[in-house]
Amino acid sequence: PTVSFSDDNSLVTATLPTGESITVLLYGATVISWKDSSSSEKFWLSSAAKLDGTKPVRGGIPLIFPVFGPPPPDHAQTSSLPQHGFARTSRWEFLGKSTSESSGNQQTGDLSVKLDFGLSSAANGLDPKAKEAWPYKFNLIYSVTLNRKDLTTSLVVTNDDERPFDCQVLMHTYLKVNDITKVSISGLDNSSYIDKVDAASTKTQSGEIQIEGETDRVYTADGPVTVAEGGKTLYTVTRDNLSNVVVWNPWIEKAKGMGDFEPKDGYKEMLCVEPGSVGGWQTLEKGDAFEGAQTISLGV
Ligand code: BG6
Repeated sequence: PTVSFSDDNSLVTATLPTGESITVLLYGATVISWKDSSSSEKFWLSSAAKLDGTKPVRGGIPLIFPVFGPPPPDHAQTSSLPQHGFARTSRWEFLGKSTSESSGNQQTGDLSVKLDFGLSSAANGLDPKAKEAWPYKFNLIYSVTLNRKDLTTSLVVTNDDERPFDCQVLMHTYLKVNDITKVSISGLDNSSYIDKVDAASTKTQSGEIQIEGETDRVYTADGPVTVAEGGKTLYTVTRDNLSNVVVWNPWIEKAKGMGDFEPKDGYKEMLCVEPGSVGGWQTLEKGDAFEGAQTISLGV
C-alpha cells in the first residue's frame, strides 16, 4: 500500500495495490472518500462541504466526541460544548501507517493498510474553544483500516485526568446510495428507537426501514445493519462496543436549510448510518479507556 499527502498536508490518502483507496482530512480525522477497485465512491460528500477547517465536514465520516447532538441541558460537563462536540472540529495528528495481510485472506495475499490518528488535550490542533468548554485531560486514537472489501474505523478514548469524565462517541457515516426511495435498511427489526422527528418519542421498529421523509432515529440494537437498494445489498455495518445506530436522512426541507448541503436534492443519494454509544454516558475514571469500532463491508 502507498500513503501520500496533499501539498498542504491537510489530506492523507492510502491506496492498496489492488486499487482501493481512502482519503482522510486531518481536520476532524474525517474520512472523506472511500473508493473500491473500480474507483466507485462509497461515501457521500456535499459539493459545498468545507474542507478548510472552518466548519465540520458535510459528508464522509465526521467523528463525534464527547457529546452527541446538542448537549443536554441537565449534563453540566458538556453543557458548554457545540453540537456533536469538538473531535470533528479539531486538527488531528497523523501517527503513521501499518500494513498487513487482510485478515482471512492469507491465501490471496491481499494487503490491508491501517492509518492511525491522534488527538489529545495537549495537542496544538485541539479546537481552542474545547479546552475551556471541556477542561479534561484525554487522549484519542482513531484507526482507519482499509481492506479490499471493507473499512473499519475504531476509536479509543483514554481518561488521563485525575477526575472522571462522561463521554459519548459516534461515527457519523454518510453512505452513498443511488436512489434513496429504493433503499431498505434491515437488522433493526424489533429494536427500540427514539424518534427525533416525532417529539423524541420511544418506538419499536417493525420490519425493514424505508426512507420516505425526514428521518432521524436513535436505535438501540446489536447485530449487523444492512443497507440494500432494489434488493441488492450495498453495505453491511457491524459494530464493536457501540450499542446505538442513528439513521438519518434530512429529506427536502432540512437539506434546504443546511448551507453546506449541496446539491439540494443530494438527500436522494445519501443515507447516514451512524454507529455510536450515545444512549447514556460512558463514564471513564482516571486511566480508564473506552474502545468502539464499526466495520462497513461492501455487499453482504
Ligand atoms: C445526526 C443527528 O446524527 O446529525 C441529527 O441525529 C443532525 O439530528 C445530524 O441533524 C447533522 O448534524 P450536523 O451538526 O452535522 O448538522
